[in-house]
Amino acid sequence: MSLIAPTRTLIVGSGGREHALAWKLASEPGGNEVLVAPGSDAIAAEPRVRRLAGVDPLDPDAIVAAARREAVELVVIGPEASLAAGVADALRSAGIAVFGPSAAAARMESSKAFCHEVADAAGVRMAQAGVFHDRSAARAFAAELAAGGGGLVVKADGLAAGKGVTVCDSLDEADRAIDELFAHESAAGSDHPPVVIEERLDGREASLIAMCDGHEAVALPPARDHKRLLDGDAGPNTGGMGAYSPLPDLPDDEAELLLDAFHRPLLAELARRGTPFRGALYAGLMLTADGPVLLECNARFGDPETQAILPRLALALGPWLLAAAHGRLGTALASSYIAGSRLPPLPGATVAIVLAAAGYPGRPRAGDPIGGLEEAAAMGALVFHAGTTRDANGTVRTAGGRVLSVVGRGADLAAAREAATAAADRIEAPGLQRRHDIGLEPLRVSAGAGR
Ligand code: AMP
Ligand code: GLY
Repeated sequence: MSLIAPTRTLIVGSGGREHALAWKLASEPGGNEVLVAPGSDAIAAEPRVRRLAGVDPLDPDAIVAAARREAVELVVIGPEASLAAGVADALRSAGIAVFGPSAAAARMESSKAFCHEVADAAGVRMAQAGVFHDRSAARAFAAELAAGGGGLVVKADGLAAGKGVTVCDSLDEADRAIDELFAHESAAGSDHPPVVIEERLDGREASLIAMCDGHEAVALPPARDHKRLLDGDAGPNTGGMGAYSPLPDLPDDEAELLLDAFHRPLLAELARRGTPFRGALYAGLMLTADGPVLLECNARFGDPETQAILPRLALALGPWLLAAAHGRLGTALASSYIAGSRLPPLPGATVAIVLAAAGYPGRPRAGDPIGGLEEAAAMGALVFHAGTTRDANGTVRTAGGRVLSVVGRGADLAAAREAATAAADRIEAPGLQRRHDIGLEPLRVSAGAGR
């Protein structure tokens, strides 16, 4: 069977990632309409996109009912919380094609301990780690790792939107992080998720997302997120403050080797356990001096990586998502003209800058008016909305932590950065936060090398 576009697709979610998915799928040949549940005012403003505002993205029955009512051919699930709530399971049981893993397979993201267990069994390289239910055993392991001279990372096991991780410079700091996690846990009862202690790895991070059908994987171009709030990777961890693609230190064509090292063995192990993974398997990698190491898996498209990656694709995405949902990536690959197992990119680069509300990542302030959106779009940037609403007067206001991603495109990284920066400069809201160094580091490195 060849690659066929889904005519009606339902996207679950309402953030910048879902906006980028809706923008991409609605612009592709063969697609009639894209629905987004619950979506947002801004997502619904895209041509051929409609929002299903009242539908709860965490309610499996409500999503199944909406998919049936709207006679969609494919459902694409954006957020991890919908996966963990079993939305993909409910759709599959109802016989509806869905791109997104079962809750059991999505544990690759929702439990860091499970991810370590599967990676160990699959022979996939991760940081040395221990998983603990007991505070004193955790502290003893941390002391042992610290004695080796390296740093430590303390992680809560469950979903924490990128915020349950403390990267520690000293054993004291690690002990405090451990105490804090166990204090939370003992306050809440006895059967709590464990705490994961890892050796701290050094290097640059990269995100490699592959579309998977349970067995086969097709890679999207690699991207790099910037997880800390402030320039120079300072400040607290966030969901992600900006991304760029391609990566000078991980060229697009290396994706094939990484699929062999990470995605394919993980898929085989999950299938062996009876929980095949159908959806976007996101490998968060640390590119160490010793080669790439898996830091974490996500069970979905990255945010804001998706906003940077999708505008780079030279091919339609919808047919691949549909083929993955039907377990037919192998046939799709055989019938396509792409070389290897990765979607070919357009020439050029993208830079996505996230604009976050005052107070993020703590308590984001809602209701601030946002200006300059049209000016930014008129400059040729893509403006994806993550947390905005339009009030009765038509004013767009902040309504979430991450508010917007502004994506600049250019012939190379420097041009894309300039386009993104110039457009982001036009957008104003009280207390709006953003980084000014997204995609800057490789440019500094190459400027230094040229001297
Ligand atoms: P995670 O949610 O596990 O990806 O962790 C969030 C962020 O913490 C990662 O993107 C890294 O920046 C950092 N991090 C996590 N694990 C490690 C590690 N073992 N070594 C160094 N940094 C880490
Ligand atoms: N950008 C990181 C994530 O999506 O988790």
